[in-house]
This record gives sequence, structure tokens and C-alpha cells, in this order.
Amino acid sequence: MVSGAVSPLPLLEHRLIFVTGKGGVGRTTVARALGLIAARAGQRVIIAELTPASQAPDSRAGGIAEVKLAPGLFTITIDPQAAMEEYLRVKAGALGSALAASRIFGALAMATPGMRELLAIGKVWELAQVQRIRERAAPYDVVIVDAPATGHGVAALRTPRTFAEIARVGPIARQASTIAATIADPEFTAVVGVAQPEELPVSETLSLARALEKDHLRLAYVITNMCYPERFSEAEIARLESARQDAGTLTDAPLRAAISEGRRAAAQRPYLERLRAAFGERLVTLPYLFSAEPDIRSLADRLGTQL
Ligand SMILES: Nc1ncnc2c1ncn2[C@@H]1O[C@H](COP(=O)(O)OP(=O)(O)OP(=O)(O)O)[C@@H](O)[C@H]1O
Ligand SMILES: [Mg+2]
Repeated sequence: MVSGAVSPLPLLEHRLIFVTGKGGVGRTTVARALGLIAARAGQRVIIAELTPASQAPDSRAGGIAEVKLAPGLFTITIDPQAAMEEYLRVKAGALGSALAASRIFGALAMATPGMRELLAIGKVWELAQVQRIRERAAPYDVVIVDAPATGHGVAALRTPRTFAEIARVGPIARQASTIAATIADPEFTAVVGVAQPEELPVSETLSLARALEKDHLRLAYVITNMCYPERFSEAEIARLESARQDAGTLTDAPLRAAISEGRRAAAQRPYLERLRAAFGERLVTLPYLFSAEPDIRSLADRLGTQL
């Protein structure tokens, strides 16, 4: 730990943590909850949001500032264009600055397939270094990457190796293979999958695990979000249903709510079982929170006891 803090969880001993999963399952929420656990324990942590190429802003206004949210807790949105400009300025001196300022060079670089992903992941790698490339930038204990949805997330993890293999020699190959080695180092990097107990998120999580395996990467945990509480057995739900038929209008609404929650929990059960069969002890669950904005602190508490 560069800050001298003691890691509160084995997961947070990794300097680089990728949080990935299907769109909308709660990647951002989980990344924030993990960030909160780290910051509460005194770690210096940054949550980096990677934008997929399709959503990346075209303008050069994106910037690449590390924004402080709370003591020890920072956030950054990584725009590949800004990452490239920073890299060229810092690494390549005057020539780099001239290239960074050149619209034609920028357009060419961005048109190279995979270049956006490489630049974004390169910036993530830079954030995770003790010796930051950016001048006077303080190091972080943990970098939590709020990665793009599954397919893009895997692409981001694979890109450095692909570039290293294609470019073979020269500065891009050197840089890409350094980044690839960092991602492949299980002591340095952890990949966390976020799922929901539903058909598509579960099948995407299983194929994510297979895709990572091909790259010799493993999901450290599968955090299954928005799980309904299992308050009633099947028999109890049946009893509630018959009670509802006999009951008056006053008790209809609460009974209906209880039945609906019970049915949802029952519908989720087979998906949780599939995940449990695939991931065993690595499966972690988070409850569905019935508030307008889910309370990150309470999710952080739940995560802290399970990881
Ligand atoms: N445990 C939970 N209980 C209830 N609502 C939740 C829970 N977790 C997340 N949400 C809500 O679900 C929505 C999606 O969550 P979030 O933005 O974290 O997902 P995401 O995977 O990052 O989505 P995107 O693909 O849009 O980036 C948000 O409105 C969030 O507040
Ligand atoms: Mg998100």
C-alpha cells in the first residue's frame, strides 16, 4: 500500500480491479461500493470509468482530470483522445506535444482499430503505477475500473496483448506488452463480474468467464446484484395466495406485495443456482434495495462481509 493503509479485503490488495458485466446490472454501483470500502479503510482509491468506443466523445474537450469525491476517494472518466494527448505530451516531449496538437495525427491514431481501447487501458495502467508517468501525480493504492459492458470490457482487457503481438517491435509493442503483463498478473489485477439473477445477465456472465479463461484470466468474484429476499417458501406463497382470496380489500395490497416479492425471489432462484454451480464460493449476492437511489453505504457493508 503506497498510502500505508491496511487493505480491508483480499480483493482490495489488488492495485487494479476491473468491474465488468452486462449493461445495467449495477457495475457502477458495485464499483462505487468497492471504492467506498477502500476509502473507509484509509486506502487512496480511484474509480475510473471507461467509455466504450461507440460512446466516446469526439470532442477534444473531454479532459482527463482526477476528481476528488471524498477523502481518499477519487474518480476519473477516461476519454481515449485526452489520454493519447497526455501520453504524447509526457512521453514524447516537444515532438509529442506537436503531434498531440495535430488534428490529422489524432484522427489517424483514433482510426486505428483498437487504438482507443489501448489508450484508455494505458491510462488505467498509468493510474495504477506507483511511479506515475504524469508529473507530480500521487499514486493510488487501488484503481477500480468501471469497465464497459461485457463484450467491450473483455476487448479492453485483451487489447494490449493483441497490440503487443501485432506490433511486435517498437514503442507501442513495448508499452502494450508491459500493460498486458500487468493485466495477466493475478497479484496485481483482479476481474470482478457483476450479474443479476436473470437469464441474459447470467448467460453473459458465464460466457464472460469462458472468454477470460481463454486469456488465462479468472473472475475473482461474481457479484450478483438486485437479489430479492427469500422470505417465503413455495408453500407459504401458496398460503398467502389463498389468504388473499379470502381477505378483505384492506389486506389486499400488502398481501399482493408479499406474493409478488415471493414470486420474484422464486424466479431468481434457478439463476442463482446456476451461478453458484459455476462459481461456488466466488458468488456474492447483493440485495435489491427498494429506495429511489440505492444506498451505496449499505451495499458496501453487505459486500464487506462477503468478500
Ligand atoms: N442493489 C440495487 N437495488 C436497487 N437498485 C439498484 C441496485 N443496484 C443498482 N441499482 C440501480 O440500477 C440502475 C443501474 O445500476 P448501475 O448504473 O450501477 O448499472 P451499470 O451496470 O453501471 O449500468 P450501465 O450499463 O448503464 O453503466 C441504477 O439506477 C442503480 O441506481
Ligand atoms: Mg455504469
